[in-house]
Amino acid sequence: MRLGTLCSTGRAIISNFLAARKLCKYENWNNDIGKMETVQVLDKKFKVSIPEEVIMKRIDAVAEKINRDMEGKNPLFLAVLNGAFMFASDLMKRLTIPCEISFVKLASYQGVTSSGKVKEVIGINEDISGRHVIIIEDIVESGLTIKRMLESLGTRNPASVHVCTLLYKPEKMRNDIDIEYVAMRIPNDFVVGYGLDYNQQGRNLKDIYSLVEENESNQNTENMKNIVIFGAPGSGKGTQSDLIIEKYGLNHISTGDVLRAEIKNDTELGKIAKQYIDDGMLVPDSLIVDMLAGVYDSYGPNHKGVIFDGFPRTVPQAEALKKMLADRGHKVAAMIELNVPEDELMTRLIKRGIDSGRSDDNEETIRKRLNVYHSQTAPLIDWYQAEGIRHKINGLGDLNRIFGDIAQVIDNL
Ligand code: AP5
Ligand code: MG
Repeated sequence: MRLGTLCSTGRAIISNFLAARKLCKYENWNNDIGKMETVQVLDKKFKVSIPEEVIMKRIDAVAEKINRDMEGKNPLFLAVLNGAFMFASDLMKRLTIPCEISFVKLASYQGVTSSGKVKEVIGINEDISGRHVIIIEDIVESGLTIKRMLESLGTRNPASVHVCTLLYKPEKMRNDIDIEYVAMRIPNDFVVGYGLDYNQQGRNLKDIYSLVEENESNQNTENMKNIVIFGAPGSGKGTQSDLIIEKYGLNHISTGDVLRAEIKNDTELGKIAKQYIDDGMLVPDSLIVDMLAGVYDSYGPNHKGVIFDGFPRTVPQAEALKKMLADRGHKVAAMIELNVPEDELMTRLIKRGIDSGRSDDNEETIRKRLNVYHSQTAPLIDWYQAEGIRHKINGLGDLNRIFGDIAQVIDNL
């Protein structure tokens, strides 16, 4: 494929891609029923964003779909406490098929696994083997919790596992998961009410409220922590990003995850990206850079910071990132380089390839990815050194030790 052809096709794809994102962001709840009250929950002010009437209509629609899809399957619903209790209750009232419900919680404990922190589903007394299970959630954001739940439930041999959520934030999703039953898509606002809490308060509100920004024009970006997490394939960028998000609440843009989601959804961008990814090559800069600005802007002008995972990967991408941020009065606060020896990278990726299903996790493609890393991406180490924001971390060994070193860098920004 010639590059010229690709660039013009690419621009059209990107504009469709961004238009779709915008649609998600501004999807509207037909909120003109005269309710504009605000409520004070602890120290924060919230305004009505989804009135009860709209919530009920959306639950009607989800219930109807479940009634259709699950007929004759006697599904078992697992409602995740605490947030999903109201949604679960109203959903159940609308189900007309035989079904059962149970309530579960997620408990976190520290463990040495691929993801560091492990979330375990507790409270399942039923034998779910051979059953059709539907998880009921109040909200799905990054998808990390759902991913862990699916992994955990998958070990108990269910016939199928589905996800049903009251609220879904497409802009924050960074895992490649099917959310089959979505009552409402919402922008990236902090919401409370109808089971959702702010520091355990506000669950009793019957409408959904979103946070009122305090003096939007006067917010400063001094404390914004934009971080580039950098390293070769398999160095642990994704793994450490999860831990950073959990501790610092930053947003996460993994260009690899975005591209894989596009491939899964069989979009035009996905079709083009697949050819490059399967071949271990980089997707052309023009496609990536345009896509990135759209995703970045979806976090609004005053976010806490973004972890750029797998971006930039070339010097032109680094320059484009610098300019894109400068145009918004922002900057990269740190580039954190995970340094891992090549034989360890190979071992990790081959191991992951056995169960990841990633089309580029096979020995031949991994070798190509490593070559591309050395020739096109590694020059960025000197580039960021010259910017004075490079922090080199030993990425070999215990996950929590590595994360401790990263946290030290972030705490000092
Ligand atoms: P993991 O955390 O997954 O490592 P990673 O660095 O995120 O590895 P990736 O394979 O995701 O990197 P990549 O850069 O090749 O892929 P990307 O998706 O960005 O850890 C790896 C494994 O090691 C895991 O199994 C984990 O459990 C384990 N592990 C982690 N830490 C460990 C530790 N301390 N000890 C032991 N085990 C540990 O990109 C994919 C493709 O998309 C690219 O090849 C390219 O074609 C395209 N693409 C993406 N971004 C761009 C871009 N900006 N420009 C052009 N093309 C792009
Ligand atoms: Mg990754």
